[in-house]
Amino acid sequence: MNIFFPKEPEFESRVSLTLESAKKFLDKGLNISIEKSFAEHLGSSDKEFEDLGVKTLTRDEGFASASIVCSVRNLTEDELDKINQTTLLVSFLDPFNEKSLVKKIKEKNISAISMELVPRITRAQKMDALSSQANLAGYSAVIIASQELQKALPMMMTAAGTISPSKVFVIGVGVAGLQAIATAKRLGAKVEAFDTRPVVEEQVKSLGARFVKIDIGETGETEQGYAKELTPEQIEMQREGMKKVCASSDIVITTAQVFGRPAPTLVSSEMVSAMTQGSVIVDMAVGTGGNVEGSVPNKTINLNGVKIVGNTNLPGELPFHSSQVYSSNIFNLIDEFWNEEEKQLNLDVTDEILSICLVSHEKEYINKTIKEIMN
Ligand code: NAI
Repeated sequence: MNIFFPKEPEFESRVSLTLESAKKFLDKGLNISIEKSFAEHLGSSDKEFEDLGVKTLTRDEGFASASIVCSVRNLTEDELDKINQTTLLVSFLDPFNEKSLVKKIKEKNISAISMELVPRITRAQKMDALSSQANLAGYSAVIIASQELQKALPMMMTAAGTISPSKVFVIGVGVAGLQAIATAKRLGAKVEAFDTRPVVEEQVKSLGARFVKIDIGETGETEQGYAKELTPEQIEMQREGMKKVCASSDIVITTAQVFGRPAPTLVSSEMVSAMTQGSVIVDMAVGTGGNVEGSVPNKTINLNGVKIVGNTNLPGELPFHSSQVYSSNIFNLIDEFWNEEEKQLNLDVTDEILSICLVSHEKEYINKTIKEIMN
């Protein structure tokens, strides 16, 4: 049983194994290997991994010898041909958008766990990579916005006069939104926030921010705690309610997502043009369609003097810590299902976690939604 950690593509700064997690795998008696120059850009040399007992291999050697391959990003379809049957892939598979890859994984009798499908239940919290990454993304969004803004965030009373605090409006208060609020508060900004899930109001207040009340009728959340999709009329009511708040904000951070659906467009071009010149918007949903009209993936654009940041990999701005928590999520997942006696993973498809995050196993689609969309 060998677990291989390949290098990530050029555009990805995060890695799936840190020295700290490598020690934990080795302490359990597992064989692990990395691709050459695996994490040198993060200051961890191959030698440091080798000194712990990790093997360094070429990419092809790693694929040929692995029973489990763990990464942040997916392998390519061509690379699946280099992997042995029954190998388990663990990554952010993005299965709703990577249908052709998912099909090939199943046809080749490869198993795959999609880290974004790990359910939000207490037992799985330590493996919840969506949360571990969203938390850092929320922090990163505020730091980037504060650098783009030509103002300071806190109030400052100086001999030269008083600087008033900047105003930050956070739209969507899940994991990323809560961290964005907390970070903006720590930096001294005046923070307001809105979410369609009513339970969020208390959380916003407990962080010392103001909850913006907008009546858009029945909203609610799914059993998994995700927001339900709004009707076009409700979105219009929400936009109307947010107009004034956006116009008076220096920074708007949008994080609104509806699981498995494109993100709702909540900030129209008209709302952007009503903002003050020099204001900054960070559209954290830009990768799934965007919350802001006109935002462009991986570009910062200037719309009538308002900067709109469309960074699709905000956790990648903090690769040291995002890799630390991601590799810890991966270790916890493997540890949870490791069978010490048989020295292999116990992939029980009836398990409450695996039945949801396993996309494919033994030539069958396992996750119910994936099964529906793929068949
Ligand atoms: P997400 O990334 O799916 O969405 C971000 C936020 O956008 C959510 O709070 C959502 O309500 C909000 N949103 C959707 N449409 C909106 C709209 N039109 N206007 C404003 N806001 C809108 O959410 P995330 O961060 O993945 O969390 C989803 C839920 O899962 C939350 O309730 C969170 O507390 C819960 N959770 C539970 C965990 C557990 O272990 N029990 C762990 C992590 C999250």
